[in-house]
Amino acid sequence: MKDKIELLEDKIQQALAGGGAARIESQHKKGKLTARERIHFLMDENSFEEIGMMVTHRSTDFGMEREKYLGDGVVTGYGNINGRLVYVFSQDFTVFGGSLSETHAEKICKIMDMAMKNGAPVIGLNDSGGARIQEGVVSLGGYADIFYRNVQASGVIPQLSAIMGPCAGGAVYSPAITDFILMVENTSYMFVTGPNVVKTVTHEEVSSEELGGASTHATKSGVTHFACSNELDAINHVKKLLSYMPQNCEEVPAQLPYEMANENRPALNDIMPQNANQPYDVRSIIEATVDSESFLEVHKDYAENIVVGFARLAGRSIGIVANQPAYLAGVLDNHASTKAARFVRFCDCFNIPLLVFEDVPGFLPGTDQEWNGIITNGAKLLYAFSEATVPRITVITRKAYGGAYDVMNSKHIGADLNYAWPTAEIAVMGAKGAAEIIFKKEITTAEKPEEKWLEKEKLYSETFANPYRAAERGFVDEVIEPSQTRNKLIKAFKMLENKVVNTPRKKHGNIPL
Ligand code: HXC
Repeated sequence: MKDKIELLEDKIQQALAGGGAARIESQHKKGKLTARERIHFLMDENSFEEIGMMVTHRSTDFGMEREKYLGDGVVTGYGNINGRLVYVFSQDFTVFGGSLSETHAEKICKIMDMAMKNGAPVIGLNDSGGARIQEGVVSLGGYADIFYRNVQASGVIPQLSAIMGPCAGGAVYSPAITDFILMVENTSYMFVTGPNVVKTVTHEEVSSEELGGASTHATKSGVTHFACSNELDAINHVKKLLSYMPQNCEEVPAQLPYEMANENRPALNDIMPQNANQPYDVRSIIEATVDSESFLEVHKDYAENIVVGFARLAGRSIGIVANQPAYLAGVLDNHASTKAARFVRFCDCFNIPLLVFEDVPGFLPGTDQEWNGIITNGAKLLYAFSEATVPRITVITRKAYGGAYDVMNSKHIGADLNYAWPTAEIAVMGAKGAAEIIFKKEITTAEKPEEKWLEKEKLYSETFANPYRAAERGFVDEVIEPSQTRNKLIKAFKMLENKVVNTPRKKHGNIPL
């Protein structure tokens, strides 16, 4: 028996050694942790159970049969994060650059299948050179097996992807299908083809960082939801993000204990500027409304004219969508619409109630927007809100103009409650533009057109730049003092906690992609 146990010990040590000491040192020199170190920091102490440690590849081309590593470049298994079951795969860059072989893919698929059967999130720690070049089509097949499972799992269990190193080729598409991507600044990259291929095909000279680094994807493409300062920061973000989510689509997120106290927030009465055209940071409204320190902004540096993120209200997990008057006056444009639509759909998949703060002058006009599909992209947000069956509440803080009034979670598209602050202005368009159109004749024929225009602007403004016309119709359920917002929302979300909506039978809808 002893010799058999020694053999086992020896094999375990081989697996733990990954691609060997030199490659581990090189990994550390780049400021990166190893696959196992990442798991160590991610999971609750001693909770990780590895599956498939002895797996090796089956390739025999290019002398590959002589180069085998136990585990084949990915550590897979299950364990707990803050006491909750999760499944994890962590790619080992020290073994063939974390590249994906047939067996490497099988290991990932195995834990994804288990996660689906047992209803728990999957977390991928990605660090991979893409398809294992020596394996050819079986590697491509392995990727497709993962993509297929990502899609089957979408909306059933949360899937999070942390990008901890270069991710090229197939290595980027699985993360792209998952719910959230987190990248590490300066040490992680995502691209379909790297700088060398780019140079050959398009003659562009571009660095890896510029082409697909964390800040590029956090600001320009929107591919990543978070750009983290280092690997530990990314791991901590994964844990925090997970805390707002349930285990699967059949559950609701865990509610933290909360004792109701005086929930009025007088500071909210002082945020709105006197002049309706003056900007303010909507985060100040969010932070003064939700539980202290609970707001986690998603996609912070992308399409900054809309703010989305998770927070808690009296311990209850909620998703927030808010126009940002401090950036482009909070207009809806192509990027803001798709950013918010995807977030709304995530919340709806996983029973996370939605709270909207609305202050929007409308959709952004112009050729750039039209030619890039603002019609289709704006429709995505309209579609996403309309199909969401989770509890949905809107607070109109100031402008709710034009189509954007309808789109931003209006009662007409299924919001449960719509509050307005006394500063709300709900109309087809701003008073100046409206007066110019409907009183054009009177203005142009007036002795003093400028004065006439101002007079008509004032008239339109007095008629519509308030919340009361909408409240008369019941489009706004209540006009509230800003300081009461938190109190009202806590009670309303509690009232809505057992909401049930029966939707028409269908295979699936056809969101305008
Ligand atoms: C096999 C690979 C590999 C790969 C890297 N390695 N990528 N082995 N298949 N795809 C190996 C290297 O041979 C090396 O082995 C080790 O990993 C580290 O690689 P380096 O190049 O030394 O590291 P670095 O300089 O950090 O560069 C990392 C890298 C680069 C940017 C990822 O290796 C690279 O560009 N790799 C190829 C990327 C790629 O084109 N992949 C195929 C994409 S096509 P040793 O023995 O020296 O440690 C694809 C199709 C799927 O994925 C499509 C599905 C939709």
